[in-house]
Amino acid sequence: MIIGVPAEVKNNENRIGLTPYSVKYLSTSGHEILVEKDAGKNIGYFDDQYIQAGAKIINTASDLYKSSEMIVKVKEPIPDEYCYLRNDLTLFTYLHLAGDPENAKKLIDTGVTGIAYETVTSEDGSMPLLAPMSTIAGQLAFVVGSYHLLKQNKGKGVMIGKMEDIEPRVVTVIGAGVAGTQSIAKALDNNAFVKVLDTSQSKLQKLEESFGSKNIEYIFSTNDSVQSSINDSDLVIGSVYVVGKEAPKVVTKDMLISMNPGTVMVDVSIDQGGCFESSRPTTHDSPTFIQNDIVHYCVTNMPGAVPLTATEALNKVTLPYIQDLANKGVDIALSEDEHLRNGLNIKDGNIMHQGVKESLEKI
Ligand SMILES: NC(=O)c1ccc[n+]([C@@H]2O[C@H](COP(=O)([O-])OP(=O)(O)OC[C@H]3O[C@@H](n4cnc5c(N)ncnc54)[C@H](O)[C@@H]3O)[C@@H](O)[C@H]2O)c1
Repeated sequence: MIIGVPAEVKNNENRIGLTPYSVKYLSTSGHEILVEKDAGKNIGYFDDQYIQAGAKIINTASDLYKSSEMIVKVKEPIPDEYCYLRNDLTLFTYLHLAGDPENAKKLIDTGVTGIAYETVTSEDGSMPLLAPMSTIAGQLAFVVGSYHLLKQNKGKGVMIGKMEDIEPRVVTVIGAGVAGTQSIAKALDNNAFVKVLDTSQSKLQKLEESFGSKNIEYIFSTNDSVQSSINDSDLVIGSVYVVGKEAPKVVTKDMLISMNPGTVMVDVSIDQGGCFESSRPTTHDSPTFIQNDIVHYCVTNMPGAVPLTATEALNKVTLPYIQDLANKGVDIALSEDEHLRNGLNIKDGNIMHQGVKESLEKI
């Protein structure tokens, strides 16, 4: 199969779909790999390394897409890239269609076959291709949240850290899956008091088994419990996920009124449309905005801040699936593996994933 790896064009996005190691692995198996010129140079993967690994360097995105049967990338295509997509092309990447319904419709109309990393499942129901980026985003959520609590960043002017004889600061984490668990661990390591909210009792129980009861409270998520938790908090991290669907709005605009000015809210779920009603997507160049005196951080590609770590982590999990799609051909690979098939979001202008369909039908 001819596999194309374009440069990412989203704001501050320096990850790349395939490392030179992955290229070597695939080209040794007989596949032809095309890499856009300088696509990996910002993270130290230079064209020479790709050539040595067996790839051919292509000067423009347009030529790369034209010559490829399958595109492997990281972020969802932005509207400038839609002109490259076509009916007989497969796109394997994060798609997050429910996060941007307006543009999703246009992307679907290209007829491209879109397999989304974030809805591929595994035997135990987890999301193997979302998990490594959620692991990174969950840790970063605590880091950027703490940073934006600094007074000069319009935060409350408090430090989440170790101070003798001073009450711990309060961090609320709503949605305690892969990302949320990482945020909890970071917050506890930094001496915070953590309030964890989730709608899954079994998740809350499992977390209690691993984090115990010191400096942490496990709370079933309802409107009332969310409101009382965020009222007391310095930092609120939203990391809920319902597979493929637009994120539920767990914090409404009204709820901001009784919060303390300078509280920081990090909406990790912003790639799925955001779990705070007041959220709107931001970029690494301009990551925050203030509403009701609350600092909102809503960057849709948080792992883009650590592109080398993120590219390596992503390739470890995507490579077996890419190999399978390339070796067997897309149709056979999808028909033989129901978990990979759960990744199929769009084909021939139709929405193939039930969760995505339900979210997009609402608009
Ligand atoms: N912004 C970014 O750059 C970035 C990067 C990686 C992941 N993400 C996003 O982070 C989100 C979380 O991903 P994850 O892998 O941790 O998901 P996950 O499935 O592991 O965890 C989601 C959790 O949310 C809980 N939940 C669902 N609905 C809820 C509700 N109404 N109230 C409270 N809890 C609820 C679930 O029970 C689950 O525990 C996803 O939307 C993912 O796309 C964003």
